[in-house]
Amino acid sequence: MKLRLINLLSVMMILSAVLFQGTCTGGEIKHIKTSYGEQQSASGKILVAYASLAGSTAEVADFIGRILSDNGAVVDVKPLKEVGDPAGYSAVVLGSAIRRGKVLQEVMDFIKANKPKLENIPVSYFIVCMTLKEKSEENYKKADAYLDPLRAEIKPVDSGLFGGKVDFSKLDFMEEMIIKYFIKESEGDYRDWDAIKTWAIELLPKLRQAEKNN
Ligand SMILES: Cc1cc2nc3c(=O)[nH]c(=O)nc-3n(C[C@H](O)[C@H](O)[C@H](O)COP(=O)(O)O)c2cc1C
Repeated sequence: MKLRLINLLSVMMILSAVLFQGTCTGGEIKHIKTSYGEQQSASGKILVAYASLAGSTAEVADFIGRILSDNGAVVDVKPLKEVGDPAGYSAVVLGSAIRRGKVLQEVMDFIKANKPKLENIPVSYFIVCMTLKEKSEENYKKADAYLDPLRAEIKPVDSGLFGGKVDFSKLDFMEEMIIKYFIKESEGDYRDWDAIKTWAIELLPKLRQAEKNN
């Protein structure tokens, strides 16, 4: 009887989490929207757009935007939901948090909705996830596979795979239950800012080269 009740509660929690994914959040989340650099050069503007539920991917996107700009690019950093259309950008960097083994649905929706435009400009992906809390070869393989559905739509110039952050105060009730009791993850920040910086610095010439080739 007790076991049945626990099973029923588990099913209810999962159902609610699936139904309400992304509709309610815990603490205040920063939706970063900013621009870096001044449009002087002939090189076009780069869009860094992100999908984030608890804010850690937004901070990574902002950091990537700043590094690209420090290295000469003009960059807009925006939540993906506010982008609508990538027209006017010379390259797009798309970032997503990972939830239950997948990138957030809005990333795939954006790619499908804008596929013809994205086919004509360089695109790069990055993900932020707890799989890379430990940087083993096996974990990189697993994290890399999260991007396969996106790659099947648009082949990226490069993919950044980064460790993430869990902060219970930023999660809604259901997400907190899932991460605590199903995924059994504790709080921690595993974002490696040096690795993210290196990736962003190396990404810029790849995007510029791909722009020329298009
Ligand atoms: C409910 C929930 C499910 C998650 N599922 C996964 C997962 O399947 N794989 C993974 O690597 N990380 C998973 N994570 C970790 C997040 O990807 C990580 O905390 C990331 O930094 C969150 O990004 P955000 O703060 O931008 O939402 C999960 C986190 C939560 C809260």
